Amino acid sequence: MDATCGNGHDTLLLADVVGPTGKVWAFDIQEEAIRQTGQKLEKSGQTERVKLLLAGHETLSEHVSIPVKAVIFNLGYLPGGDRGIITKPETTITALQQALQLLLPTGVVAITVYPGHPGGDNEETAVSRWSGSLDQRLFHAWRMGQVNAMPGAPYFFLIQKAA
Ligand SMILES: C[S@@+](CC[C@H](N)C(=O)[O-])C[C@H]1O[C@@H](n2cnc3c(N)ncnc32)[C@H](O)[C@@H]1O
Repeated sequence: MDATCGNGHDTLLLADVVGPTGKVWAFDIQEEAIRQTGQKLEKSGQTERVKLLLAGHETLSEHVSIPVKAVIFNLGYLPGGDRGIITKPETTITALQQALQLLLPTGVVAITVYPGHPGGDNEETAVSRWSGSLDQRLFHAWRMGQVNAMPGAPYFFLIQKAA
């Protein structure tokens, strides 16, 4: 599942990984993002295996009911788009909780946070608190960032459901 398909790079990666018999769900609240992603999928001939949803990821449990192996949350704003339209801590945490409910054992949720843009710092704090509060018997939560990057550089969290 791609919780924020944006320009479609992550959706395309997931479509490659699942292969011809797999299934990907891709969410975004912006028509432009759905259009960009749809175009990339058409070009690569992978339209059939991806369900594009013009919907907030906080509604993901309404759209997806089967267990999934991986979920990507690439947070923030649409590159090249309106920088005022950003993911928000409340809806992001709601969506992350729903994503964990759908995860298969050993399945993963990858979350990239962007503390460098306005609003991104609050979201980083929320994601960091949320992932740190997960029961370690059920989920393993990691944080990884580049140590020689500028302050505010993006970094990522990986949550894996225990076997
Ligand atoms: C950093 S971009 C994603 C980049 C994308 N994964 C790619 O490969 O190009 C973040 C995206 O999150 C979307 N977004 C913001 N709030 C959202 C929400 N509640 N549900 C789903 N997508 C949302 C934005 O519209 C934007 O396109």
